[in-house]
Amino acid sequence: MKKFAMGSLVLLLAMSFVFGAGVKEDKKQFIGLAMPETHVERWQMDGAALKADAIAKGYDAEVAFGDADQTKQNAQVSDFITKGADLLIIGSINNGVVSAVADARRDGVEVIAYDRLIMDTDQYDYYITFDNFKVGQFQGRAIVEALGLATTTSVKYITLFAGSPTDNNAFYFFDGAMSELRPYVEKGVLKIVGPAPLASSDTANFTRIATENWRADLAKQRMENLLNGDAKNYVLDAVLAPNDTLARAIIEALLTDAKYINKIPVVTGQDGELASIKFIRDGKQAMTVFKDTRDLAKAAIILADAILKGETPNIPGARLDTETYNTGKKYIKSYLLEPINVTKDNYEKVMIDSGYYTADQLR
Ligand code: BGC
Repeated sequence: MKKFAMGSLVLLLAMSFVFGAGVKEDKKQFIGLAMPETHVERWQMDGAALKADAIAKGYDAEVAFGDADQTKQNAQVSDFITKGADLLIIGSINNGVVSAVADARRDGVEVIAYDRLIMDTDQYDYYITFDNFKVGQFQGRAIVEALGLATTTSVKYITLFAGSPTDNNAFYFFDGAMSELRPYVEKGVLKIVGPAPLASSDTANFTRIATENWRADLAKQRMENLLNGDAKNYVLDAVLAPNDTLARAIIEALLTDAKYINKIPVVTGQDGELASIKFIRDGKQAMTVFKDTRDLAKAAIILADAILKGETPNIPGARLDTETYNTGKKYIKSYLLEPINVTKDNYEKVMIDSGYYTADQLR
């Protein structure tokens, strides 16, 4: 017995000598998580879920928030690289991120573009997001249905808002929505009040309805200006709002106008933010599009893990698309998750029964 124990000890020592380098390689790999901002609630959830999932898979992980400032985010990315990051998951702010992505490639650090495509570069290979066009389709369809556009004979009035022109997603959301609304504009039953791009490719008009850095104060200001200007002599039936943060700012502005106090136009949204779920419950906001940040984070870490292990990723619930998302320099291998349309009818099931919010939070 003793002899055996001694023998094992010697063997163990010899093994640890031989595999000495292996012990060093056992040091955890490090994933840097760069999120764009905190003023839109979801990113805090994304950051927390990404970190927890990375740690659960045996990685070291750190999250940084860029406060909608690309210079700041680039410094955070560079800090991750200095600390020896093996992979970066980046939700970028604008295309100023390309220098950070180039630095990562130079150092052999893999990059996954998270939720937002990183434009104007060919220095990375992976993108994980939700089907952004579909998000817009849900928004457009909600307006079509709520206004009964398919059967109405009276003209309905709408004002258009879009997200940040620095965010590639904003174009997809808008084009998805307009794919639903455009036929009715062309038929003459839906009239756009204010600037009227029918697609994001109408750059001059798209810029006029876009909201720099997704800032709620800018959307509110623009809605107020419309109420005193282009929309003064109309009663709006709907406002296309690209996300919940902007939707609530727009609703706040609408509620300062006596015309809308008892009849809020149909206002769309996205993200399933708690305050908007309350608005939906209370009939102030018509809908939101929920993109479960838990699923996106989990999918991103499965992808990261596969990349770091040199394996082919198998991401449940994600659709691989290699033909849609082009940075201007190349098509990026994209994994798309499914967004969910949320209204008064299903918000409890989608947002509470799934455990995203507790019933208490909605009280
Ligand atoms: C995201 C949205 C978010 C918006 C503002 C977009 O890129 O896809 O979920 O509402 O940014 O942060």
